[in-house]
Amino acid sequence: MYLRDCWYVAGWTHEITQQLKPVRIMGEDIVMYRTSSGEIAALEDACPHRKLPLSKGTLKDDRIICGYHGLTFDHRGACVAAPTQGRIPTGAVVKRYPVKDRYGFAWIWMGAPDQADESLIIDIPDYDNPTWGRTKGGDMTIACNYLYIVDNLLDPSHVAWVHLTSFAGAKTDDTPLSIDVNENGVVVWRWMMDTEAPPYYAKLLKFAGNVDRKQHYECVLPSIGINKSIFAPAGTGGPGKPLNEKTYVNISYNFMTPIDENNSHYFWFQHRNTDPNDEAISEKMNAGARTAFIEDRDVLIAVHEGMANKKTPSLDLALDAGALRFRKLLNARIAASASEQAA
Ligand code: FES
Ligand SMILES: [Fe+2]
Repeated sequence: MYLRDCWYVAGWTHEITQQLKPVRIMGEDIVMYRTSSGEIAALEDACPHRKLPLSKGTLKDDRIICGYHGLTFDHRGACVAAPTQGRIPTGAVVKRYPVKDRYGFAWIWMGAPDQADESLIIDIPDYDNPTWGRTKGGDMTIACNYLYIVDNLLDPSHVAWVHLTSFAGAKTDDTPLSIDVNENGVVVWRWMMDTEAPPYYAKLLKFAGNVDRKQHYECVLPSIGINKSIFAPAGTGGPGKPLNEKTYVNISYNFMTPIDENNSHYFWFQHRNTDPNDEAISEKMNAGARTAFIEDRDVLIAVHEGMANKKTPSLDLALDAGALRFRKLLNARIAASASEQAA
């Protein structure tokens, strides 16, 4: 079961060109392309005649010509030609999905098209702030349910065991977690006071010496992870303390799109409040993030298999509290959603 009345990242916008691109989201096969006027089209990847994937057809003049008998569809899914007969058959229409281009991503609405509300695309503060730097980002598919990735992004503890060469550091293995829940998501957070900076961040800070470090692991519906890492000079950070001019902030944005129950597409980029034009730093951070996410991927594939094939009961730990609250929130929102009511 998925939350349909919301936007998911379907792909990087620069990868959607005037070529037919098949994607699978929530078990639905979709064909995407860009029209000559720049609009992104997304249609069910199936001809209404014999269900040949339209992605096996030809794109010509912004229209898809089916590769079996030539039924031709425009970018909104209307049939505009039926060469084997005189008239266009009634019912020759292909389901369409609304798509918006924002933050370098193509966002797809998986609910009823007339419910698509652009204002529901997540807001990324400072995205256009010229004093902030961004990595190019990356993506990978992971053979696991998308909620295992969400669980992982609501779990600051795992860095102490999974990311030994990057995010782990003093106090990451034993500092207790706090949880805040709101109507759109969950935040799991903790401050670790007066510690050494972990390897990934040590070179990026604009001050020397120990740090007060905050991990702010937030996930918002349907499956977006916002992981903020805050580092202040030791003695200047902590709950309720305002950020000072030396404070370093890195926000890792993570977008999970279910391919089906057993596979996920994972997109990300990092955003920082320093070095806006330093490409070398961006590339180093991007490479470091991918290395860490490959470490996560290896664990999550094995977790998915382990949980699917378990022979003895699994248990929850205190560190799972945030992830369990998120799943509860998601299930409640699915049950209340308009698409669910219409099904
Ligand atoms: S399957 Fe597409 S026209 Fe026949
Ligand atoms: Fe991780």
